Amino acid sequence: MPFYQRLGEVPRKRHVQFRENGSLLTEEVMGLEGFTGNESILYHLQSPCRVKELGEFEPIEREEWMPDTHAWRLMNTWDVPAQGDEIVGRRLLMWNDDVEISLCRPSESMEYFFRNGEGDEVVFVHEGAGTLETIFGELPYKQGDYVVIPRGTTYRFLPDESPQRYLVFETPGLIEIPKRYRNDQGQLMEHAPYYHRDIHPPAELKTVRERGEFPVKVRVRDGYQTYVHDFHPFDVVGWDGYLYPWTFSIHDFEPITGRIHMPPPSHQTFAGPNFVICSFCPRKLDFDPLAVPIPYHHSNLQSEEMIYYVDGNFSSRKGIEVGSITLHPSGLPHGPQPGLAEKSIGMTETHELAVMCDTFHPLRLTTLARELDDGHYAYSWYEEPAPAGSADENPAGVTSHF
Ligand SMILES: [Fe+2]
Repeated sequence: MPFYQRLGEVPRKRHVQFRENGSLLTEEVMGLEGFTGNESILYHLQSPCRVKELGEFEPIEREEWMPDTHAWRLMNTWDVPAQGDEIVGRRLLMWNDDVEISLCRPSESMEYFFRNGEGDEVVFVHEGAGTLETIFGELPYKQGDYVVIPRGTTYRFLPDESPQRYLVFETPGLIEIPKRYRNDQGQLMEHAPYYHRDIHPPAELKTVRERGEFPVKVRVRDGYQTYVHDFHPFDVVGWDGYLYPWTFSIHDFEPITGRIHMPPPSHQTFAGPNFVICSFCPRKLDFDPLAVPIPYHHSNLQSEEMIYYVDGNFSSRKGIEVGSITLHPSGLPHGPQPGLAEKSIGMTETHELAVMCDTFHPLRLTTLARELDDGHYAYSWYEEPAPAGSADENPAGVTSHF
């Protein structure tokens, strides 16, 4: 999506004969929006439709939690047990018709290949590293990377030995670089917080010529359909185009700072349909002598704000730890807890690292959210006189967004 790429061998022109050892290769145009959106053209050794066996269809089941109260919520996700692999180990936390947000701490390896046939994915790598093996080639990933996987990409995670912890976004729409960062030709402009050099497409294409039994699990129609092929799905000898998976490191996001407080859109990293994904990164804070470096109260009248805390010193902010999620739902104001605005004055920098997802339609919660909900966060703006010298007397924090 970010720019034209080519790996492996492709013929001089599209849609002409392309042979290997005399055999005609199978050309596949993988594209969006009929034949008018971005596309890539892949050359396969076999037809990608060559299915030996139709496996099971497993519908996706979501266990919804309907809370008794509409409230600000805090969930601590750090201790969610590792389970499953990088696909079936995703544990849905909240969702609406535009986006699903899941936690994933895989403990098993993928014994199959996966393809999302009905949506784009962004996998934020909080912990771990490895290689995403894909039909477009190998895509190395590491801690802090957003792995952007467009629909139609057949892939398999090959993690290294380190523990893996991901925050996963899945959307039936497209994950895009915000339009205001790009000129009419698609190039990232000078004011954008990242550049093409920060975007990493697949590094190497390895054509696999194995025969055998290869199950591919495809997300379609709100479920998973398994297809068994008699050839390895990474049978592509070359491809080119604009559609492929890529990584972008949160550490390569260049924060935009101002004399007075910059609003959350300055942190926007990706755009989806009716939602945005933002990166809060270490940076200098507002530098006007009268600036209040942490945000003013604001009312999310039409949006839900989910923040996942990745790294930084949150220890002096009550209840927030690495792996915590706050959810500030629509229709309500929110802002710094008592004392924090005063405490922030004079602060010159923040070391926070956080991923935020703002949705423009309400999020539904799962029973996992009920398990993780601390149940007290809604009262964290309520001031009770604290005994002198207690930790509660001055619950100062260093996060710059609430
Ligand atoms: Fe906010």
